[in-house]
Amino acid sequence: MGKKFKKIGVLTSGGDAPGMNAAIRAVVRCGIYNGLEVYGIKKGYNGLLNGDMELMDARSVGEILQKGGTILQTARCLEFKEEAGVKKAVATAEKFGLDGLVVIGGDGSFRGARDLCRHGLPTIAMPGTIDNDIDCSEYTVGYDTCLNTVIGAVDKLRDTSSSHERCSVVEVMGRGAGYIAVEAGIACGAEVVLVPEYKFDFEKDVISVIKDGISRGKKHCIVIVAEGVGGAAEIAKKIQEETGMESRATILGHIQRGGSPSVKDRVVASRMGERCVDLILAGKENRIVCVENGEITDVDIEEGLAMDKKLPEDLVALIGKLSV
Ligand code: ADP
Ligand code: F6P
Repeated sequence: MGKKFKKIGVLTSGGDAPGMNAAIRAVVRCGIYNGLEVYGIKKGYNGLLNGDMELMDARSVGEILQKGGTILQTARCLEFKEEAGVKKAVATAEKFGLDGLVVIGGDGSFRGARDLCRHGLPTIAMPGTIDNDIDCSEYTVGYDTCLNTVIGAVDKLRDTSSSHERCSVVEVMGRGAGYIAVEAGIACGAEVVLVPEYKFDFEKDVISVIKDGISRGKKHCIVIVAEGVGGAAEIAKKIQEETGMESRATILGHIQRGGSPSVKDRVVASRMGERCVDLILAGKENRIVCVENGEITDVDIEEGLAMDKKLPEDLVALIGKLSV
């Protein structure tokens, strides 16, 4: 007979993302539905290290589905990256009688989840990050809301750049991944998108494209730059100098991480949270819950971390086709 699970914990870790609350709610309520006690652990792995956690009930996750951020708060915990930190966290989990843990975060958080499993705490992870950069999953909770925030902002910038016949250079989040930049670029009708995954030639891929656009009658343009490329102000300056089109830079920043989660984020988060609980109840551990071919599924954490998510080249190429 398999182990009987009684108590589990849930935490959010790394950068917050809209939909994390929907995931917490799903873990708590699906846990309670299945007869589990669920502890909400505060401030990521810090709470696990220090025993900062409390028993949740069904009502304690009421009124959070529609809220951005994470009611459990989140953190980047350096102590937990060391083996001594992981051991301390496992000891705290034992002290509280936790039989399992759900971690909601990005790939750094997944490495922590893997380490906990190695040290004896069964852990399941699910992707909550606006970057959509988790290799094993087609989708990460928070991405859709983030994109909607970005397009709302760029649509507004388009109004003013069109009125002034300017170039608007917009820096969006994504330190190592250009998903936000490319999909926002397609959705906003950007002329140019620069991402960290693909090298570009500034003269050919930026200046020539803008000049060609001007020669075809374009009066303004939108350039989206991923954070990993950076330098929005410098890029705007160069565009102005070399094309003659007045240019302005805008860095959207952390506004992209906030806000009420979209329908997609609420639904995916709820389904992933349910799957996390089901996996724990089935005695599984060291798994990442993910989306594959539109379905909720799960993979081994090691395998998931080893996968390579490539930003499709045809998505990047589409920007050029749509902006002729
Ligand atoms: P994300 O989960 O969004 O990728 P981070 O990379 O900041 O965010 O990771 C969140 C937390 O996960 C870190 O503060 C740390 O506690 C833990 N973590 C990150 N990388 C590792 C690692 N290599 N090994 C163990 N724990 C890690
Ligand atoms: O991982 C999400 C993310 O928003 C990245 O796109 C961004 O580079 C990073 O977090 C910024 O994190 P912070 O400013 O909170 O350290």
